[in-house]
Amino acid sequence: MPKSRETAVYTHGHHESVLRSHTWRTAANSAAYLLGSLKPHMKILDIGCGPGTITADLAELVPDGQVTGVDHAPGILAQARETAAGRGLANVDFGVADVHALDYPDDTFCVVHAHQVLQHVGDPVRALREMHRVTKPGGFIAVRDADYAAMTWYPAVPGLDDWLDLYQRVARANGGEPDAGRRLKAWALAAGLTDITATSGTWTFATPEERAWWSALWADRTLASAYADRATQGGHATAEQLRAVSQAWREWGRQEDGWFTVLHGEILCRKQA
Ligand SMILES: C[S@@+](CC[C@H](N)C(=O)[O-])C[C@H]1O[C@@H](n2cnc3c(N)ncnc32)[C@H](O)[C@@H]1O
Repeated sequence: MPKSRETAVYTHGHHESVLRSHTWRTAANSAAYLLGSLKPHMKILDIGCGPGTITADLAELVPDGQVTGVDHAPGILAQARETAAGRGLANVDFGVADVHALDYPDDTFCVVHAHQVLQHVGDPVRALREMHRVTKPGGFIAVRDADYAAMTWYPAVPGLDDWLDLYQRVARANGGEPDAGRRLKAWALAAGLTDITATSGTWTFATPEERAWWSALWADRTLASAYADRATQGGHATAEQLRAVSQAWREWGRQEDGWFTVLHGEILCRKQA
């Protein structure tokens, strides 16, 4: 693997409360904008694959092809391998890589995909240039990222605005851009990509089960995760302020009329044939 060029720190880490969210993700709920372009024989690179549930779905969708999942954090790859093995998938492999410096020749993959990754990296334009380099002519670069400032919810439980403000400050101090969704098209243009289809997609949490799950994972993540550690160690919040934000999440989860939506920007770019 070439020397890592990552300058950012991954904000969430891979604490159990974080993985509760990552392992819920599927190709259907997180990569729907890409699925119509997939063909059974395709060779796909899934960058920042985390625990690999989307990667495994992609492998099922290209039964005559191959999917490679890579992540900058070596520790999460054992779980990704287990996910794929548990589903009996033989056309998927995993490795360590930094999206800024991929160890693949030019024109290697039919699809290069990254879900919720570019918001966390130090140089998203360089990352997109590198993704474009390893994509075959005629192939696709597919990127989807949340946009924290565009997340919206009801009711206005006191403390959730503090959550958003704190999260954005910690993510930026770590070298990322939490409002990445709205910037994807601009980053792709800056990287020299030309054939860009920009869309948006949402997750919505409103049923009692969805509210309980979403609020608990944020309440827990706020108290115990790499994000919580960075918030206190970086001087962005005291332990008491984190407890208040965590309580705000629990309070929102109890609201019968509670509704939360996560907006994502998406880009599907075609490399010139
Ligand atoms: C929010 S998680 C997304 C995981 C998965 N794509 C999903 O949506 O479930 C972001 C992942 O990107 C990885 N990551 C962060 N910086 C990276 C980099 N420079 N190169 C590759 N992966 C990176 C993190 O380790 C983490 O597993």
